[in-house]
Amino acid sequence: MVKVNDNYLKLPGSYLFSTIGKKVAAFSAANPDKKIIRLGIGDVTQPLAPAIIDALHSAVDEMADAATFKGYAPDLGYEFLRSAIAKNDYADRGCDIAADEIFVSDGAKCDSSNIQEIFSLDNKIAVCDPVYPVYVDSNVMAGRTGTWDPATETWSDVIYMQCTAENNFAPELPKETPDLIYLCFPNNPTGSTITKDQLQVWVDYANRVGAVIIYDAAYEAYISEENVPHTIYECDGARTCAIELRSFSKNAGFTGVRLGFTVVPKELKAGDTYLHGLWARRHGTKYNGAPYIVQKAGEAVYSPEGKAQLKEQVAYYMKNAAVIYEGLKSAGYTVSGGVNAPYIWLKTPDGMSSWEFFDYLLEKGNVVGTPGSGFGPSGEGYFRLTAFGSYENTVEAIERMKKL
Ligand code: MLT
Repeated sequence: MVKVNDNYLKLPGSYLFSTIGKKVAAFSAANPDKKIIRLGIGDVTQPLAPAIIDALHSAVDEMADAATFKGYAPDLGYEFLRSAIAKNDYADRGCDIAADEIFVSDGAKCDSSNIQEIFSLDNKIAVCDPVYPVYVDSNVMAGRTGTWDPATETWSDVIYMQCTAENNFAPELPKETPDLIYLCFPNNPTGSTITKDQLQVWVDYANRVGAVIIYDAAYEAYISEENVPHTIYECDGARTCAIELRSFSKNAGFTGVRLGFTVVPKELKAGDTYLHGLWARRHGTKYNGAPYIVQKAGEAVYSPEGKAQLKEQVAYYMKNAAVIYEGLKSAGYTVSGGVNAPYIWLKTPDGMSSWEFFDYLLEKGNVVGTPGSGFGPSGEGYFRLTAFGSYENTVEAIERMKKL
């Protein structure tokens, strides 16, 4: 008789942002007169930049003509996009990444959950706590995380690296040696960053213990400080220990368009096996390539007009981040993040739990945020607000919060 993958049955609750979506929908249905401001999921609100719209239009026109029509995309990505990425995101930063080490996909969420497939189930993962839930959930689905302890809200076979106010929300090297290390900087959810020297410590550590770092740099466009690395390949030795995940969602507003990429350097090995070939095999078998029109839109991100327009878009969201950060600080909240990241991490007031504050803010202020405990046990007592709303809504949300 057919059986399910019972690892799925071990997952507690539903996906964090689905739970929030359901709660907000129920509140909205019960209170149709309330204007809800959503600063929960990190979804963008500004329209695609004109350079990207132009690229989409002309790519659509190409699809209308037999002479320029495109069918299946190359499964690893079109050369024009991989070359633009290699030049702009890596060569221009002094990093040695070739176009054929870049695998174009439909986004970093999928890549961050799929990448674990090329590793043995025996590997032990280390994650920050709090952490973007996809890294842990995808390993649970694969059967790599052991048993769930509802009391501590942790998995028995996962190494949790606590990120708290005491360590500026930056993980310390774990006591137990992991095989796979998930790092995300600028960080989702805390908005924290580490310096290039601090990241170099992780790269040296991974090379020393034979671990692979899965480095999620989805928010690199929001870096404003000089000493914060934009890519892990700025560190010496990263080519032999790191895979990097990147997204067009946050730097270019592609959350609904879908485009991302993963970098797997050719030197990177697990034991005697090169990971580049394994990821290429996985991609080739399970993926038919991001759509041509979307990859053309991605190419426009790197055009001079695209770069200038997106710089303005990032500045728009970072103005929101400053409104949230300064507004809440002046109202007596303890806040961090928001300087190199579009997320503001705040301590819940009056000892409220993260979910209590979620309900309180939704009911009394009609503002939606994300409970810190949804990202892991060390997120309890914290709350995340995103800077991806419109400026007007952000200002209004903070005014409402100040009055609570
Ligand atoms: C978030 O809110 O954490 C992100 O938007 C989720 C994602 O990028 O998938």
